[in-house]
Amino acid sequence: MSFYLEHFSPFPLLKTKNLTLRKIRISDTKDLYEYCKKPESSRYSNWTPHESIKTTRDFVYWLQGRYIKKQCYTFCVEYEGKVIGTASFIDFDENYGTVEIGYGINSDYWHKGLGRQIVMALVGFAFQKLGVQRVYAKVMPENVASSSLLKKCGFSYEGTARKSEYIKGKYIDVETYSMLKEEYHTNKGDQNGTKADSKLCC
Ligand SMILES: CC(C)(COP(=O)(O)OP(=O)(O)OC[C@H]1O[C@@H](n2cnc3c(N)ncnc32)[C@H](O)[C@@H]1OP(=O)(O)O)[C@@H](O)C(=O)NCCC(=O)NCCS
Repeated sequence: MSFYLEHFSPFPLLKTKNLTLRKIRISDTKDLYEYCKKPESSRYSNWTPHESIKTTRDFVYWLQGRYIKKQCYTFCVEYEGKVIGTASFIDFDENYGTVEIGYGINSDYWHKGLGRQIVMALVGFAFQKLGVQRVYAKVMPENVASSSLLKKCGFSYEGTARKSEYIKGKYIDVETYSMLKEEYHTNKGDQNGTKADSKLCC
């Protein structure tokens, strides 16, 4: 059985104390637009704010196509019945057992501990279900919210690859943060009690 069929078909549902991470539906477009149109949502990412709901609709249709082709690892993040952001597994290396994660939420919901719940839900699924040995995230140096969040979740700073990506017209430095399976299992990932918040329902 292929990796996707084994782990993402049916698409997993991840629950945390306050959030549900699930497959994105067409009906999520309006909520996603609210998130995608804000400049702060994509300031440190390779995409730009959505200028109209049509851009978000096209994005959601594109994701639906990728779910069908069994190439999509993107969840939406639902909080109190509203979609407030996205969370993804970005780059799997099945040979080496590594995976990159990405996430973002609407700024109306920042500083409530929700980012931490998202990261730990992705990490828990990656180590417990996918069986990877390393989870990592790439962060622009200016994105202190993201690097602090990762450190809070028990990730370690690995280093900075200088001018390693070309984003929005310029070469940028990129920091990498990672957590290893043994660190997750020896509770490094639980230093803030976040691991206990995540429940896998798949
Ligand atoms: C990064 C992001 C997901 C953080 O979400 P959040 O829900 O506000 O984070 P949390 O409330 O769970 O914060 C957890 C920890 O992260 C750190 N943190 C979060 N925001 C921070 C900020 N603006 N400055 C410094 N540290 C911050 C703190 O250590 C915090 O712990 P504390 O509350 O005990 O101090 C959010 O800022 C976001 O969506 N940003 C836009 C998208 C993005 O940049 N994604 C990452 C791309 S690499």
